[in-house]
Amino acid sequence: MTYVVTENCIKCKYTDCVSVCPVDCFYEGENMLVIHPDECIDCGVCEPECPADAIKPDTESGHETWLKLNAELAEQWPVIDEQIDPPADADQWLGKQNKWTELSREPAARP
Ligand code: SF4
Ligand code: F3S
Repeated sequence: MTYVVTENCIKCKYTDCVSVCPVDCFYEGENMLVIHPDECIDCGVCEPECPADAIKPDTESGHETWLKLNAELAEQWPVIDEQIDPPADADQWLGKQNKWTELSREPAARP
């Protein structure tokens, strides 16, 4: 199994998760992070650290699309191994629904 970053991370990107991951398996895109499923050791420590409740175990149903996306994007994006400041408007995106759909309407701003 692995843990997966899901839609709630989009535009929030608090990166508290990065500061606790023992194996540095988070990868950074412009609007969200993803977890490399082959590098995650399933320790679970990142899950409760995310203020946006964006990290889920892949054993929970409903995250199949996100698991696929995490696997694909982790191969393309650079690793992030230190916590960084969140975007200035991160709190305005906290808890918003359908962030992916909203961003997909603006191709330049996709995650
Ligand atoms: Fe890193 Fe553990 Fe979270 Fe996997 S579950 S991403 S190894 S902190
Ligand atoms: Fe995203 Fe939560 Fe980490 S918002 S960057 S998964 S702490």
